[in-house]
Amino acid sequence: MQVSERHVELGVFLPVGNGGWITSTTSPQLPATYDYNKQVAVLAEELGFDFALSMAKWRGYGGPSRHWDFTLESMTTMAGLAEATSRIGVWGTVHTMIFHPAVVAKMAAVIDQISKGRFGLNLVAGSNPVDQGQMGLWRDLDHGGRYRLAEEWLTVIRRLWSEERVDHAGEFFRLEDCMSNPKPEHAPPVICAGASDTGFRFTAQHCTGSFLLGSNRDDFVKTGRRAKEVAAELGRTDFKTYGLFTIVPGATDKEAQERVAYYNAGVDTVALDNQTREYASDPSLKQNTMANRFIAQGEQRNSMSPAAIVGSPETIARKLADIIHGAELDGITVIVPDFIDDLRTIGTAVVDGLHDGGVMCNAYAH
Ligand SMILES: Cc1cc2nc3c(=O)[nH]c(=O)nc-3n(C[C@H](O)[C@H](O)[C@H](O)COP(=O)(O)O)c2cc1C
Repeated sequence: MQVSERHVELGVFLPVGNGGWITSTTSPQLPATYDYNKQVAVLAEELGFDFALSMAKWRGYGGPSRHWDFTLESMTTMAGLAEATSRIGVWGTVHTMIFHPAVVAKMAAVIDQISKGRFGLNLVAGSNPVDQGQMGLWRDLDHGGRYRLAEEWLTVIRRLWSEERVDHAGEFFRLEDCMSNPKPEHAPPVICAGASDTGFRFTAQHCTGSFLLGSNRDDFVKTGRRAKEVAAELGRTDFKTYGLFTIVPGATDKEAQERVAYYNAGVDTVALDNQTREYASDPSLKQNTMANRFIAQGEQRNSMSPAAIVGSPETIARKLADIIHGAELDGITVIVPDFIDDLRTIGTAVVDGLHDGGVMCNAYAH
């Protein structure tokens, strides 16, 4: 039935925060340890995944589940994982407000050496005032200002990666005869999840690719197509879009739905309320798309993203393939409740089903 074929990169969003992405006391209580994440990354590589991404988060939400009270730092985690793996892409995240670009220029160059060209950089221009404010590093910028800063940040890091000495006097950064060696031998892909109009334009103009979210199937398709349109308007034919999906598999659809119901029964409303409070404190709340997603999740008392794809491997593959084709995605990043058994299901049965639905990925050959 499927006529077109699409090749996608397959990635895993590493659970570097305890509990992963389910805010519940009844979901798998994943430890935010390096050892666990190493196990996940090595498994992902064995399964043929293309990249492993870790987030940057500085403070947790408490509650009975102590959701994200423990989070590994992203760049050091990816440096370790670069050594522990040999083929998979290792993508780390930095908040542009809190790391100086000259510091990240060197970090990236080192991880490029360790990984032999497998490093990628995920930029976060905002987040919420409490996460970075707790250490006095949140800058009181409006939403547009955050992306002006990110743009200047990217200009500086790219100059440091390519020029011998850099002089720069901008709105946010000042560099005088700045030297930064070694340089990365392979220019790292730079991805951003900016989803507001300003955020997306920044991403399409200056980054290699974009992480996209959708609140349901149609929203995903609309967002994916719009992303491609904006990128094309800007002449970016090489621009990639990666969808982020929370996936809950089960042997049958019923079993998968029962898992969700079980996790929702243990939803940690204290942690959700703290998450809501943090994001709601952003004076630019209207433009902060992630904040609005988290607030909606809190209001609905959902333990996980309401857009989660739930079902048997066949159902998941069918739904995912439909979105991938419709949204014209170039990659998908997955979140699962259990990053060992569930990840294996994604890398085998779901990948097989995707193949049947005309979606090819490297994991299929594995
Ligand atoms: C795949 C993915 C990864 C993200 N990683 C992080 C992260 O590590 N840390 C963080 O604070 N926000 C993270 N975010 C949130 C976004 O970077 C960003 O804040 C959000 O999309 C809002 O963009 P906007 O300001 O343009 O509305 C991530 C979002 C997605 C979809």
